[in-house]
Amino acid sequence: MEFDEEDSKYEDRELSENSDDFDKDIDNIIKKNIDNKRIRHIDKTKRKAAIEAVFDERTIWELGKTIQKGIIDYLEGIISSGKEANVYLGYDLEGNEVAIKIYKIDSNTSKWMRTYIVGDPRFKKIPHNTSKIIYLWATKEYKNLKRACNSDLKVPKPLFVKNNILIMEYIGFGPIPAPKLKDIKEPKNLDILLNEILTFIKDLYQKAHLVHGDLSEFNILYHNQKPIVIDISQGVSIHHPKAEIFLVRDIKNIFNYFGKFDIDLPDPETYYYSIIKR
Ligand SMILES: Nc1ncnc2c1ncn2[C@@H]1O[C@H](COP(=O)(O)OP(=O)(O)O)[C@@H](O)[C@H]1O
Ligand SMILES: [Mg+2]
Repeated sequence: MEFDEEDSKYEDRELSENSDDFDKDIDNIIKKNIDNKRIRHIDKTKRKAAIEAVFDERTIWELGKTIQKGIIDYLEGIISSGKEANVYLGYDLEGNEVAIKIYKIDSNTSKWMRTYIVGDPRFKKIPHNTSKIIYLWATKEYKNLKRACNSDLKVPKPLFVKNNILIMEYIGFGPIPAPKLKDIKEPKNLDILLNEILTFIKDLYQKAHLVHGDLSEFNILYHNQKPIVIDISQGVSIHHPKAEIFLVRDIKNIFNYFGKFDIDLPDPETYYYSIIKR
């Protein structure tokens, strides 16, 4: 699996011109015999809406290519349909699950995304075109995941990125994706969990030199009683002008979440200064 950082040019391609071919393309990518019991959220209406939101012709074409290249074998069904992206469960050629995140090409979304891109020294040339901003965003998530993985942090391993499609390690048991921390009624060993998340924030800053920027119980999966942080596309370099504002927000979210439970919390300010070491 490769990642081509500089690849922003479209290659010559033949896109399906008529709608019959278009439907066939979708069906080749998403197997028709989806087992509704195995994947949550996948009734017909939602499937249709989810397909329409992200599967423009270029995305279908790119997905077809990931199948041709043997990066994925097929896409089974939707795990989540969000404002900016849908996440699908797919399988690789060995039958292992993979998570496929497909960003929606939306000009409103691309506007706020700029805040998190402008000022990050990793991104010098910032495109104006909506789809190119979204492609950069997907690449940003890939790069952030890679940096975090290289520092041995618990995030899904990134496998592939092209345009608005990001493929990463799937977190879950078989076809059942891991729940979000916010959906766990009584997480076990809260002290340990808190410590693991606080260590994550610190290591992300000190080892991977990143701030998550959208960290909360909504973007932490709870798998094998361990936290796995996801959705790191807004993550910025610690040299980004707003890095510290985002860091404070992440810390507040985590302290608010743990504040609901009956456990002792460290002093947030001391914790903050221990991260930025000033
Ligand atoms: N690698 C993954 N493995 C399993 N489930 C995932 C994975 N990545 C995302 N998900 C699921 O998809 C949901 C949305 O993903 P996320 O990256 O948070 O996108 P967004 O919040 O922008 O829609 C998550 O809350 C989680 O339930
Ligand atoms: Mg999220």
